[in-house]
Order: sequence, then structure tokens, then C-alpha cells
Amino acid sequence: MSNQPIIQLIDVVKSFGRQRVLDGINMNIPIGKTTVIAGASGQGKSVILKLILGLLSPDSGRILVEGRDIVTMRSKELNEVRTNFGVLFQGAALLDSLNVFDNVALPLEERTKLSQQEISDKVISTLEQFGLVGQEEKFPAQLSGGMKKRVGLARALMLHPKFMFFDEPTTGLDPEKSMEIYHLFYETQQRFGYTSIIVSHDIPKIFNLADQVVVLNQGKVESFNHPDEIQLSEVPQIKSFVKNTMGYLYRSSELE
Ligand SMILES: Nc1ncnc2c1ncn2[C@@H]1O[C@H](COP(=O)(O)OP(=O)(O)O)[C@@H](O)[C@H]1O
Ligand SMILES: [Mg+2]
Repeated sequence: MSNQPIIQLIDVVKSFGRQRVLDGINMNIPIGKTTVIAGASGQGKSVILKLILGLLSPDSGRILVEGRDIVTMRSKELNEVRTNFGVLFQGAALLDSLNVFDNVALPLEERTKLSQQEISDKVISTLEQFGLVGQEEKFPAQLSGGMKKRVGLARALMLHPKFMFFDEPTTGLDPEKSMEIYHLFYETQQRFGYTSIIVSHDIPKIFNLADQVVVLNQGKVESFNHPDEIQLSEVPQIKSFVKNTMGYLYRSSELE
């Protein structure tokens, strides 16, 4: 099992006004694996994703994607790097005026030169993979929360990103549906082999499937190679965060 980092944050500092949100963060994201970034609300989890996406710049420090520092990159180069990123945010960000089929087809329409027939074939096979057959004609307003996430994930994967970033992807779903969606992420990650970062404000049981959990607390991070190890943290705030948000942890074998 290779743990070669494909994304590295080195001594990253980020403040907004007088508030220092990230106070010298070091983090390695292993290639082809799932990293969970957990922490209470307002600790800077979304800021980390925005820094990696190049939507924000750090005050100091380096952010390496495949060994190249995106902080000092020109915008043309940065845009090329960005084509490797897929994102799924809270609301799944579907276009309300487009039905499921057209939402999923959109990245292919906008970013490729495929024919209508090729696009249609790809969309249909993707909808099959994500359990969305029969939903093609529906508009986002007609879908359940879980269905919207499925459509968002399907759309994000159309261009085969090397990296997938999920920001609080189960917000608004009940625990059972959240579990189902995390299970889908796990299966999809296994199938597509992308490098995954999932941001969460709690530590759901499904996170035993993560290869690494990074807990963000007061501008610092603590990394754990296994979610079970989080319970061993000596940091009082992490101890209480874990106590408040972690339930029974599933093993991957229990899901099969
Ligand atoms: N663009 C911004 N301007 C000012 N403050 C910001 C900005 N983005 C985030 N912050 C602040 O940084 C802190 C961390 O935000 P965020 O990363 O969104 O937290 P979370 O861990 O809940 O995702 C918060 O206090 C937030 O108010
Ligand atoms: Mg956030």
C-alpha cells in the first residue's frame, strides 16, 4: 500500500483580519486514498479545501499538488491543475432549470467535443451506475436529498477527476441516508481510484473506511492513520470533539 502524498500542505498560515484560522498546517494527502478532514464548525475546514482549489491564497506556506506549488502558479497553469479536481458541496449545486440527464451531461457539453450520441451514451451508463435510471426527466426540486447527492456525484465524476473534494456532503440528510451516501462514496472511490478528501463536522461511524483522519482544532491539525486512533489524542479539545461526535465504528467488512 503506497502512501505517497499527492497533495501536501507545508506550514500553511491563513488569517482573515486578526483571526488566524490556520496556524501553520502540515498535511499529506495520500494518492488514491480517502482522507477525512474533521473538526467543529468554524475551524477552517472549508478554508483548507478552498486553498487546495486555489480559490484562496495562504498568507505563507506551500501547497503542492503532484509536487507543484499552486500558490506561486500563474493562472493559466492553475486552471490546468483545476481540471483534475471534482467537487461536491453541501447542496450538490445542481442547476435547477436542468433535469437530471442534462445536469449530468453538462460537464461533457461544456468541456469536451464529444458528439450528442457519445454524450448520451456516457450519461446513460453513468446514471445506471449511480442508481438513477428512471430519474432522467426529473428536475432537482423533485428529487430527495439523497438523490441530489447522487446526481451531484455522478456529474462531478463525468470528467474523471484525479481528486474529489466533498464539503459536508451529508448535511441535511438523516443518519441512515448519510450512511448510504458515505457507503456510495466508498464504493465509488474504490471503483474509480481517485484521491478523496471528505470534510465533516463530526466523525460518523462510516469513517472507519477512511485511510486517514485529520482533525482540525484551533488552527492546528492532528493526523491519524486510523479513525480508532483518534480516541488516543491527548489534546483536550480533540478528546471532547471525538467524545461528542463519534459513535460505534463500522469495519469495511461489515458493509459487504
Ligand atoms: N472569505 C472569508 N472572509 C473572512 N472570514 C472568513 C472567510 N472564509 C472563512 N472565514 C472565517 O474562517 C473561519 C473558518 O471558516 P470555515 O473554513 O468556513 O469553517 P468550517 O470548518 O466550518 O468549514 C470562520 O471563522 C470563518 O468566519
Ligand atoms: Mg465549512
